[in-house]
This record gives sequence, structure tokens and C-alpha cells, in this order.
Amino acid sequence: MSTATEKQFDQGLVNTIAAETQMSFIDGEKGILEYVGVDIDSLARNSTFEESTYLLWNGRLPNAAELAAFEQQLRAEYELPAGVLDMIRAVPADASPMHTVQTLVSSLSLFDAEADDDSPEANIRKAIRLVAKTPTLIAAFDRHRKGKDIVAPDANRSIASNFLWMLRGEEPTETMVRALDVCLVLHADHGFNASTFTSLVVISTLSDLYSACSAAVGALRGPLHGGANEGVMVMLNEIGDMSKVDEFMKGKLERKEKIMGFGHRVYKAYDPRATYLKTFAEGLARDTGNLPLYEMSKRIEEIMHEAVADKGIFPNVDFYSATTYWSLGLDLDLFTPMFALSRMSGWTGHCIEYLKDNKLIRPGAAYVGPHEVPYVALGDR
Ligand code: ACO
Repeated sequence: MSTATEKQFDQGLVNTIAAETQMSFIDGEKGILEYVGVDIDSLARNSTFEESTYLLWNGRLPNAAELAAFEQQLRAEYELPAGVLDMIRAVPADASPMHTVQTLVSSLSLFDAEADDDSPEANIRKAIRLVAKTPTLIAAFDRHRKGKDIVAPDANRSIASNFLWMLRGEEPTETMVRALDVCLVLHADHGFNASTFTSLVVISTLSDLYSACSAAVGALRGPLHGGANEGVMVMLNEIGDMSKVDEFMKGKLERKEKIMGFGHRVYKAYDPRATYLKTFAEGLARDTGNLPLYEMSKRIEEIMHEAVADKGIFPNVDFYSATTYWSLGLDLDLFTPMFALSRMSGWTGHCIEYLKDNKLIRPGAAYVGPHEVPYVALGDR
């Protein structure tokens, strides 16, 4: 057993390996990300969110029959319990979508008889429910806050197609569905990032998947994590025009302010998730009349390359997902919920994996406060 003196102080856990995983491998120096050994670029080009989720959860790609069966299991769980729909109708229209997603993910537990069943079989069923229902609750909330009728899920559609259908109430194009699906594949898992680690801390107490995933949504919403994609779009809107990019960036860099969508705790090379997304974002932006946004992004990347590439700062996945989501017509404050929708696959997978050899996560604290402080009675202070 380790004693307090053997513990190493590691601020931000930068140099700490907290557990083993077979789900995703990251080499930050070389810019490699693999899901169960399969390179992220080939998954982005060829796979779907459903197939990548199967891969992450089962440790191998499914055959055609297995994939079809898995898709059916997910589709059978798209619907929300009536009680959750009632709750959505009670959410204030100006509520923050991420607070709403966190609350609604947690509320799913209230209507799941298996919420407290921690058997591996029940956990897999709950993971399927969480992945299948999160898109429905995001789309339903967005319709509700805009005063529109909630669109029921369509069990004949993939997760990406169904989400766009429920959100817009009209048929999405194939390009839109593919663009969203690519983003979902790219965001599905990423080692022990802050939100995944949050989910592990919660599940390690032998709490439940709903608690673990709603806590993870809370961690994801911060601007240093999933909130960065929204930050990128705010920045692009603030700049407004290609002619203002250089001056804007000069000011930011002189003031040593961080540029959203750049830098990564792990990657000191180009984020491999951004490579294909960059090309994809260009085509989509062109098709949807948003090419100026893409061109501004490219110019920002050039300036950043000259200024900070030697520090290992490159675009991360959020940089080009911002223009992709914008081109899909998503509201700015739905960008981070999109990340949650996809990462639900990683959070649930990691929790189930961690429970196979559970150990309560409980690091030490380096106390730096005083000792032997006398207690002074209230009246004497
Ligand atoms: N713009 C400009 N400079 C940067 C950036 C950036 N985006 N990111 C890091 N730097 C600089 C820092 O100023 C610092 O410089 P210094 O050594 O001269 O002081 C150096 O690079 C190290 O930066 P840290 O913040 O200490 O690095 P850390 O590993 O803690 O941070 C983080 C990683 C939080 C992602 C950071 O790069 C950042 O804030 N990026 C912007 C927000 C963002 O895009 N987040 C999304 C991350 S990806 C994801 O969650 C999907």
C-alpha cells in the first residue's frame, strides 16, 4: 500500500496513467488516434457512428449481421419516456442546452427500472439507451425552445439521419447526414479526457451509468474541453470578414490570449481528427454557401502555424467541426451538445470497461494550509 510520502504531486494529472483501456490509443507526438487499433482517419472515411460504437464496446468491427442487429437495438430505444418529454416541455426556452442535456440525461434514470441494476447485461442495455436517447432529447429540447412541435424519432433512420430529421422536421440531404456522421465518429472516444475521467470517477464509486454520464456532460461543457467548438464559431463571427483576420489574430497573439480550437493536452502534432474533417468542412462549406467561413479558418490556421507551431500547437478537432456544424445549420449553442451526443459512446464504453476491474478513484491532496490553528469561539472573533 502506498503511503502519503510515496505519492507524486502531478498537477492536472498530466503525467499520471490512471487505468488501462482497450478502447482508444493516442500518440500525441506522432498525431495518431486509433479506436481498438483501427486508425481514426480510415474510420472517418469509411465507418459510421453505430459501427464505431460497436467497435469501441466490443473490441472488434462487427460483421454485417452483427451491425444490423446493433443498429436495430439502438433504433428500438430512440423514443423518450413520456415523463422526460413532460420535463422537456417544462424547461425554460432560454435554458442553456448543456445544462438541459445534463439534467435530461440524469432524468432518464427516473424512468428506467434498471437504473440501479449494475449487472454487465443491464449496463449494456443502459448504454444503448443513453446513446439512442441523447439525440432525441437534444432535438426535442431545441424544437420546444423554438416553440415548434417536437418531432418523433424515426426508427428507420441512422442516428445521424434521425437527429437531423427530428431537429429540422424535414428530410436532410445525404451530404448533411454524412457530415454529421463523420463528426460523430471523430468525437466518439478519446482516452481519459476530462469528461471521460469524470465518468470513471463517478462509476468507480459503484454509482450508476446515468450519474456517470450526466457528470461527464457537466465536465464537457467547459471552454477548455467540449465548449471550444462553440468558442471557435464565436471567434469567427466576431472577426466577421476575411479582411479582418490578420489584425484580429495579431492582437490576440500580442495579448497572449488563447485561440479556441488550437492546442491539445495530448497532441503536440496535428490532431488526426482534424485532418479529414478539414477537407470535409471545405466541401460542405462550399455546398452551403459558407466558404468564406472556411477560408477565414484556413487563414487563422496559417497565422497560428507561423506563430506557435514550434510550441506543438495545431488545430484540434473542434476547429473544423465548428464550420461543419454551422454549415449544417445548427445553432451555436448546440455545438457542444453534439459532442456530448457522440461522446456518450465513449463514456458508457469506458465505464463498462472500468467496472470489469473496478478500483475507487481517490487521489491524494497536497495540503498547503496551516496547522494547529486554535478554535476561537464565535463571540471572540
Ligand atoms: N492559443 C494560443 N496559445 C496556446 C493555445 C492556444 N489555443 N493553447 C496553448 N497555448 C500556449 C499557452 O499559452 C502556453 O504558452 P506558454 O508556454 O508560452 O505559456 C503553452 O501553449 C501551453 O499551454 P497550456 O494551456 O499550458 O497547455 P495545456 O496542455 O494545459 O492546455 C488546452 C491544453 C487546454 C487544450 C489549451 O491548448 C487550450 O486552452 N486550447 C484552447 C481551447 C481548446 O481548443 N480546447 C479544446 C481541446 S480539444 C477537446 O477538448 C476536444
